[in-house]
Formats: sequence, structure tokens, C-alpha cells
Amino acid sequence: MKPSSEEEEVVRGVGPWDECFEVAVQLALRAGQIIRKALTEEKHVSTKTSAADLVTETDHRVEDLIVSELQKRFPSHSRFIAEEATASGAKCVLTPSPTWIIDPIDGTCNFVHRFPTVAVSIGFAVHQELEFGVIHHCTEERLYTGRRGQGAFCNGQRLQVSRETDLAKALVLTEIGPKRDPDTLKVFLSNMERLLHAKAHGVRVIGSSTLALCYLASGAADAYYQFGLHCWDLAAATVIIREAGGTVMDTSGGPLDLMSCRVVAAGTREMAVLIAQALQTINYGRDDEK
Ligand code: IPD
Repeated sequence: MKPSSEEEEVVRGVGPWDECFEVAVQLALRAGQIIRKALTEEKHVSTKTSAADLVTETDHRVEDLIVSELQKRFPSHSRFIAEEATASGAKCVLTPSPTWIIDPIDGTCNFVHRFPTVAVSIGFAVHQELEFGVIHHCTEERLYTGRRGQGAFCNGQRLQVSRETDLAKALVLTEIGPKRDPDTLKVFLSNMERLLHAKAHGVRVIGSSTLALCYLASGAADAYYQFGLHCWDLAAATVIIREAGGTVMDTSGGPLDLMSCRVVAAGTREMAVLIAQALQTINYGRDDEK
């Protein structure tokens, strides 16, 4: 009897989302070429939710390229959550259907200033479960990938998180987020202060949530937390961190909610809980309620 196409896939060792993953990798690499070239050119910069929330024509160009190529390759996939489309009013809802979650340039402020810490992030979820993530650190040509149950890699080298459990020995990463009103800044700075009082070795801000999360996945930092990031900053990186052995959770200490605009991630669960306990909440609302 002729094997079904599903059985043939098992025999050849092909998983159900392999083609999607390969296409995501190719698109992230292509997008990286565009961003590298545009980095040194003049840019038209606009603002979105605040004076620190920037967008350029390259963000739009890269997003359009990724979404249109995915639509061509996978015509049955109709769900896209993409940063700039959402900024223009598209709904940001995760349904059980295959869903692509895209940040065309993460670190747009870095990109505008030619600070070379800029990435493209493509995540993919089915039945609200993250299947894979692809993040291209395009200025350093590092490709981070993670696939559910298949490990996490950077340029082919397997990633492994730090096993540190002691906050007094931790290097912690965070990002400022777009709100800059006095009350928000006060809590942001007080959260940093709390971690420094707990004797963390350092708290770093590099200007790209996705790349900070990739550093965590690589074991180059012990923890990450942020209020004000979005599902497109988090989706791909979450798979990469989990596959590198790390924990990604809500700042309340509960399970991760991709739409809640807040996260704690760490190499160990113990470290994530210590960070979560130290933090005061900054309320950014939810991505799926905007
Ligand atoms: C932003 C960056 C920034 C972080 C923001 C993100 P964008 O993404 O990652 O570091 O503080 O919360 O939204 O706007 O550059 O794609």
C-alpha cells in the first residue's frame, strides 16, 4: 500500500512545519540584507505611540516583503500579527490557526542611530502554541533559531542557557519600553535599583528586546525582564529560550501570556522567580485589547 503523505514525511524525517521554518529562515536572511544596506542610508523617521517609539520606511518595506512572500508560499495561512500592520490598526489576536508573528526591525531606535544591534524576528504558532522562532541579528550576521522539541541554535551551534540561580551573581538584561512619563520612569528605575540592591552583577539595556532574549538563550546573561514589549518582540525568542533550556514566564510568576506586554525570562526557574518577586508592575495593557 502506498504510504500517505504524512507517513512519507515521517519516513523522511520531515516535520509538519519544516517548509515554513525554511522559508522563515530565507526571509529573515533576505530582510537582513535590506536592513544592513539601509542602516547607513538616510532614513525617514516617524513616531508611533511615543516620541521614543520610532518607525522608518525600512520597517514597512521589510514587513511588506515578509508578509507578501509568506502569503505567496502558504496561501492557506491567513493569520499574520505584524508590528507595523498592528500600528496601523490591524487586530492582534492569536487564534488556533497557523499564525505568523513578525517584527520586521527590532531595535528601530538603534537602526535610526546606526547602533549595530538590530534584528528581524519571525515566530510561528499553531493552536496558540509556538512552533518555531527565527531571529536574525543582521548587523552581526547571527541567525538564531529554535524549533519546538528540536533545540535552539545560533549559526548552527547549539544554545544553552546559564544555570545560575543566585541573583547576587546574575547579569540581568532589560529594555526601557516606549512610555516615558514620570511615573513610568520612576517605576522603571526603581525596578533596576531593586535588582542592584539585591547585588546583581549588572543590569544592561541594549535597545533590542529580541536580541537581549537571544543573549539570554546563549548563556551570555542570566535573566531578562521587561514591561511594554509586544508579542512580536517575544514570540520567536520564547521558543529559542525554551529550547535552550530556559524559562519564560509572566512577571506575576504565572505562565507566560504572549499578549500581556510583560515578561520575565531566565536560564533557571529559580532565577526567574527571584526577578519576578523583585519587580513592581508597569501597566501597558494587552496587545489583544488595543
Ligand atoms: C522595541 C525594542 C525596544 C523595546 C521595546 C520594543 P521595535 O521594538 O525592542 O528595545 O524597549 O519595548 O517594542 O519598536 O524596535 O521593534
